[in-house]
Amino acid sequence: MADAYEMLAADYDWMFDDDEIANGRAINHPATARLLQRTSSTSAVLDAACGTGVDAAVLARRGFTVWAADGSDAMVEGAAARFRRERLAIPLLHSRWVDLPAATGERFDVVLCVGNSLVHAAGRDAMVQALTGLRRVARPGGYVVIDSRNWEKLHAARQIVQVANRVVTRAGRRCFVLYSWEIPDRLGDEHIAHLVFIFDNDGQIEPHEYQITFRPFTISELRERLEPAGLREVDTDFDASRDRYSVVTVTT
Ligand SMILES: C[S@@+](CC[C@H](N)C(=O)[O-])C[C@H]1O[C@@H](n2cnc3c(N)ncnc32)[C@H](O)[C@@H]1O
Repeated sequence: MADAYEMLAADYDWMFDDDEIANGRAINHPATARLLQRTSSTSAVLDAACGTGVDAAVLARRGFTVWAADGSDAMVEGAAARFRRERLAIPLLHSRWVDLPAATGERFDVVLCVGNSLVHAAGRDAMVQALTGLRRVARPGGYVVIDSRNWEKLHAARQIVQVANRVVTRAGRRCFVLYSWEIPDRLGDEHIAHLVFIFDNDGQIEPHEYQITFRPFTISELRERLEPAGLREVDTDFDASRDRYSVVTVTT
């Protein structure tokens, strides 16, 4: 699934405004933020779906010992470029979640799979395997954090088009992102998101379109998949009326 990100990586940072680049995005969701606040800043954190490295860079600037990993080559290159620009010594792995235990002998106090990433594990068995890979690179008693869109809410609302609530301006270019969802009847079937980055170059409109497939899951399904992966939920900010949630788990 990381394949779709090979193209998207080129424009991915336009999904972050300057505040998110400076302060992170997924790491600030309530349950994730609570865990990070009570974690000693000398702890080792792996951002296992690092994308272009925005959250990993913020955590490194906060003092954590950070490693970053991603299954997409282009995303890893984007993260490497950010870390070079920001002079951050963050080791980077090109690895899928299932392969992480073989990719590194390091073990971490906190393993993050955030930014709505786990939805790319295609179905129950693949998700249990992914969660198992994430758990195996956590230290005994360490944490694995997952976050997700609230797919039941999105599915029920069947809102086909969603437009970002702000325009990002950078280096003289302006961009806003819109999502167009293809939502099948069954929540567990493959869904498609069309992401359109609409650039305004001095009045010239330039759309860049990317297609991402994913397999939504409910929070009950996620919870049912934690135990076979050796994880136990210890905190969440799930609220049925909200669009996103995080679940903090501990190794069992
Ligand atoms: C929605 S992006 C989130 C990236 C970043 N955490 C953020 O918040 O912007 C999902 C990321 O998961 C990665 N990914 C998808 N499937 C993966 C897998 N099986 N193993 C590792 N990374 C994967 C993609 O390459 C992509 O960078």
